Amino acid sequence: MITGKKPIYPIEEWTVTEEIFDRETNYRNETTFSLSNGYIGTRGTFEEAYDFDVDTGLEGNFVNGFYESEKIRYGEANFGSPTYSQSLLNLPNLKETKLYIDGEAFHMERGTVTEYARVLHMKEGFLERRLVWTSPEGKAVRIRIQRLVSFVMEHIMAVRYEVTPLNFTGKVRFESKLQADVENHTRKTNPIVDYGPFGRKLDVERLEQDGRLLYYEGTTQTSRLTVSCGSSHRLYVQEISGMAAGGETACGEKEEKGREEETARGEKEERGREEETVCGMQAGELEAVCVLEAEAAKGERVTLDKMICYATSLDMNRETLENFVRGELEKAEVTGYETLKAQQAECLSRFWETADIAIEGKDDSALVQGLRFNQFHIFQSAGKNGRTGMGAKGLSGEGYEGHYFWDTEMYVLPMLVYTQPEKAEKLLDYRYHTLEQARERARVLGHEKGALFPWRTINGEEASTYYPLGTAQYHINADIAYALSLYLQVTANRGYLKEKGAEVLAETARIWADVGSFAACKDGRYCICCVTGPDEYNVLVDNNFYTNLMAREHLRNAAAALRWLMEEEPEAYEKLKAKIDFAESELTLWDEIVEKMYFPYEEERGIYPMDDGFLMRKTWDEEKIPAEKRAWLYENYHPLFIMRHRMSKQADAVLGLYLHSNLFSKEEIRRNYDFYKEVTLHHSSLSTCIFGIVACGIGYVEEAYEYFMQSARMDLDDYHNNFYAGIHAANMAGTWQAVVNGFGGMRCQNGVLRFAPVLPQAWERYSFKVKYQGSVLGVSVTKEKAVFSLIKCHPENGKIHFMVYGEEAELDKDSEVCFGLRAKGGQLGER
Ligand code: BGC
Repeated sequence: MITGKKPIYPIEEWTVTEEIFDRETNYRNETTFSLSNGYIGTRGTFEEAYDFDVDTGLEGNFVNGFYESEKIRYGEANFGSPTYSQSLLNLPNLKETKLYIDGEAFHMERGTVTEYARVLHMKEGFLERRLVWTSPEGKAVRIRIQRLVSFVMEHIMAVRYEVTPLNFTGKVRFESKLQADVENHTRKTNPIVDYGPFGRKLDVERLEQDGRLLYYEGTTQTSRLTVSCGSSHRLYVQEISGMAAGGETACGEKEEKGREEETARGEKEERGREEETVCGMQAGELEAVCVLEAEAAKGERVTLDKMICYATSLDMNRETLENFVRGELEKAEVTGYETLKAQQAECLSRFWETADIAIEGKDDSALVQGLRFNQFHIFQSAGKNGRTGMGAKGLSGEGYEGHYFWDTEMYVLPMLVYTQPEKAEKLLDYRYHTLEQARERARVLGHEKGALFPWRTINGEEASTYYPLGTAQYHINADIAYALSLYLQVTANRGYLKEKGAEVLAETARIWADVGSFAACKDGRYCICCVTGPDEYNVLVDNNFYTNLMAREHLRNAAAALRWLMEEEPEAYEKLKAKIDFAESELTLWDEIVEKMYFPYEEERGIYPMDDGFLMRKTWDEEKIPAEKRAWLYENYHPLFIMRHRMSKQADAVLGLYLHSNLFSKEEIRRNYDFYKEVTLHHSSLSTCIFGIVACGIGYVEEAYEYFMQSARMDLDDYHNNFYAGIHAANMAGTWQAVVNGFGGMRCQNGVLRFAPVLPQAWERYSFKVKYQGSVLGVSVTKEKAVFSLIKCHPENGKIHFMVYGEEAELDKDSEVCFGLRAKGGQLGER
């Protein structure tokens, strides 16, 4: 584990700041400063479009769900292996804007840069770069560039580029490009894979300029998807009042004052616009350029407002794309940059109102910054239109080919369910939307009924090429069912269960009833063989504890949901029954499996081995592995070598014990945790947050704190040295869980919300809020007590019930209740 690494960026409350520009750290910082709105994703690259190579930078612009396919080249293909890949495709870049000052090109490595800062504003939702640049010829300009990806206008990204001459009067010229010569970095982000979108994959169909507008349309060569994008420009010159002639150099007060006055006088902007000059356009085969220039004197500011729009044939008919993009650009211009920016802050303030976590104590500022950074990235990158999910890397890079995994359901969704249930619902909708592909996949795997969701995907079809680490992770079905059941409990949204939820629960549950058998050699217990659990160092195993546990609970929940439907919504039940050809005898079979599910168990230590063979494997001797290879086993060792050892890449059985903690005694969880702590290497970023949560539940609070420190700043300080490829979304959301489910001890199981708060020694206090069945509950924990208050009350329910340390609690509007803090967390589970 790595902790206590020196922070990369200064510790700040609501911002992340890059203090110098450096090629060495550029690739990583592009991920730090990436922006998204769940539809568009753009890396934190520079407008100047520097000549970075494959190891130092990646211009990246993505649309969620937009992928290119390649025929997969297998050495030895199996029946049922996916034949075509899906890779999130890198799309034409419209951010590129070259700036010339009296003919000299702005370049941060030429001339001199002073007062540099690049800032991610996590409260306001935009990226800003501020600097003063003096050209090799001695002309000094203040530059401020802001960029946002609109949370309100899903298809819009906006850039405001301001240039203020400081010691001269001269020409400020912008060359704004639409760069269509783009390709993926497949080799760098997927080095051991021999397929992928190598080279340019979009065939250009349109590339043109029309006044101040650049427009592009192109279609992918294999997946046959069309992307349409464009940009519109507006240039104006403003006098900066309050800026004295001569001597104004600082980014400070004077400029602020100027800006204020300007905002107060709307007509000033109008006047500025009149001065706009569009010098010309060039359209080449792969790029179109819009050139705008203005004469500016010292004391004036030239502003370029650029609106960018992306839309694809996944959203609408190809024929309507152009009108749509032009229309959106026009709307964005009418709305204006300032309004778009104000909307960002508004959306985020609603999010932070519930999601923000306060910590007081040692390292509090660093931790809070880490948490906010993590939550900000989750907030911005989750798909929100019901047809798209969320990639393991969000939309921040090309890592994992942009695929969606179980990371969404097990890590991201729980956070969203309690903070933004409407967004959680959209992610669940994505699975519903791809249920048909999951049904087809189940048939390929030999299941006559039911649906099997893919391990990795974008379009709903399986995209994992190595089935031992891919399709064999059948637990994906139970993970989706778990997230769905959690959503249903926390929101009490019965309508969703009736319309979509019951169908997903039932279709996915059917796989469990087909995949295993009541094995005579195991006393007639139900066994599931040849699956891979979450732990990717133990594959194709028999009776993976996590899988069997999750499958059993999935079947239990699915049966309960169908029985509820039968009783309460008979018409909907009959409809569903006919639609999926469901027989009531299936319910009886599910009940029997629930009753007889087999779990590997070792009497001597009272532990659940990860699978039937786990205790037979060789012990792992890390000393024999050279230090530089330790974290990269699959890159350096044959899979069989790895799989024959008794060790684990990531939380597996321990994750099951967390999710269903109500079914185990604290003592039992402790024994298993002690065992797995010794054999888990945490080579996956999905692991430490889970160990921390379980450690809290069994009274190992200080150990939990260590795990939490590992998770909270994992990406901000790049603990895994691969942040360049994109965020680790699962861990990011996992840190929210580490506080709320870990230290706060929160669980929602069997329709009951429970808490068992603990406080690590290093902290004086922490507090968080959760949405629960239409109400908002606040929890504040100090060394003495835990205070629960009803911040917002559901208009009809009136009251909220929950349990703290196993005792009942009830709150109505504006009331609060206190519990003395129990150092070891007290009773969490039911047993
Ligand atoms: C982990 C998986 C995870 C994937 C994407 C792998 O390294 O083992 O559990 O789903 O990364 O984050």
